[in-house]
Amino acid sequence: MKYQKLDEKYIWHPFTHLKYQNKNIVVTKAKGVYLYTEDGRKILDAIGSWWVNVHGHTHPYIANKIQQQLNKMEHCIFSGFTHPPAIELAHKLSQIVPIKHPKVFYSDNGSTAVEVGIKMALQYFYNQGLVHKNKIIAFKNSYHGDTFGGMSVAERNVFNLPFKKKLFKTYFIDVPNAKNISFVRQQLIKYLNKEDVAAFIFEPLVQGAAGMTMYEAKYLDELIHICKQYKALTIADEVFTGFGKTGKLFASEYLKNKPDIICLSKGLTGGFLPLGVSICNQEVYNAFVDLDKTKTFYHGHSFTANPLMCTAALANIELIEKTDFLDKIKQIEKWHKQFVQTICSHPLVKDVRYKGIILAIEIKTKDKTHYLNNMSEMIETFFLQKNILLRPLGNVLYLVPPVIIQENELNTIYSAIKQFLQYLSTSKFS
Ligand SMILES: Cc1ncc(COP(=O)(O)O)c(C=O)c1O
Repeated sequence: MKYQKLDEKYIWHPFTHLKYQNKNIVVTKAKGVYLYTEDGRKILDAIGSWWVNVHGHTHPYIANKIQQQLNKMEHCIFSGFTHPPAIELAHKLSQIVPIKHPKVFYSDNGSTAVEVGIKMALQYFYNQGLVHKNKIIAFKNSYHGDTFGGMSVAERNVFNLPFKKKLFKTYFIDVPNAKNISFVRQQLIKYLNKEDVAAFIFEPLVQGAAGMTMYEAKYLDELIHICKQYKALTIADEVFTGFGKTGKLFASEYLKNKPDIICLSKGLTGGFLPLGVSICNQEVYNAFVDLDKTKTFYHGHSFTANPLMCTAALANIELIEKTDFLDKIKQIEKWHKQFVQTICSHPLVKDVRYKGIILAIEIKTKDKTHYLNNMSEMIETFFLQKNILLRPLGNVLYLVPPVIIQENELNTIYSAIKQFLQYLSTSKFS
């Protein structure tokens, strides 16, 4: 266990309670839906690493493409210079994203993809002399990453509490449902009437970090329509929902009214390498085409459009197109549906929801549903003992498996969930 000791000595891990942390599990190999550990365990990955993995770990098609690119070029400055993987990827993305005549702006993770999306929207108005249009509308319970822009447009909660005073002001509206839609409409219009709104940002259909909470496309469609009437831009943060999570390649495909900007990352490279893109429509782009140099979008990263990352993303999309990817997701959704019927009336299940490859089960506890709910550690430990990686969001246990998962592997997870509910029923927790 040489690595575990060194890890403990030298590394500070993210989202980790330093006082309570157990020893980190050292994974030395990953293949398909399995992780292989230093101490000889084989762990079934039920959450696609960090919602990033699409075709299973270390898929040979993507790995080979990256290897070939490695021998050609590892990095390329991206201002004044360009390269085939970035061009081919942008071309490919332009054929599949639900935005007409898109322009692709590269960055290198989900938070920066969102950051760029917000900055594009703000500068779009700034460049037109509409400097007062500088507020963003967002949903309550939203999560958009850990940089300051992303935190500012997210729910004020434990993720950003120490920085609260440094975050810019955002207007928050409720997530719509059948009961509150007219109220949410009023909230939105109230803010739009202030005439200082640049954009409305949202996680379409599923709020991932909030606990995989889901809402219907028709309500979001209505809100986007209103934004368009008021000439506010709309930003779909598809960092989580992109690349098949909800059953279509992008959740925005469920919408009649398309967003002006789409932010992508996570599944973009099939989970191989970090890459972010913020894709805008021609109208947004045009606001930056000006002889006045102050209207330039002065944003970039050293690894912007890195050729290895772009190659991985291209290979990921090629694999999606070559395989029965969307049919497989439909099949997974059917399996989820069948399983849900067997547990939905369990007294310890507060709510259960599914869409595409996502399945979320909210466990009833004495505390409210919350990221810091103590049930979290209990769930993680229980499933790890069964060699299943299932990292919950508080008392919400969820699956986002790689799309290549087989029926028997899902059945292993489903049966472990039933055992967990049984275990809870007989323990003090219930
Ligand atoms: C909707 C959404 N936006 C942005 C992010 C941030 O992405 P990253 O962790 O790559 O910075 C996440 C991460 O979970 C996310 O779910």
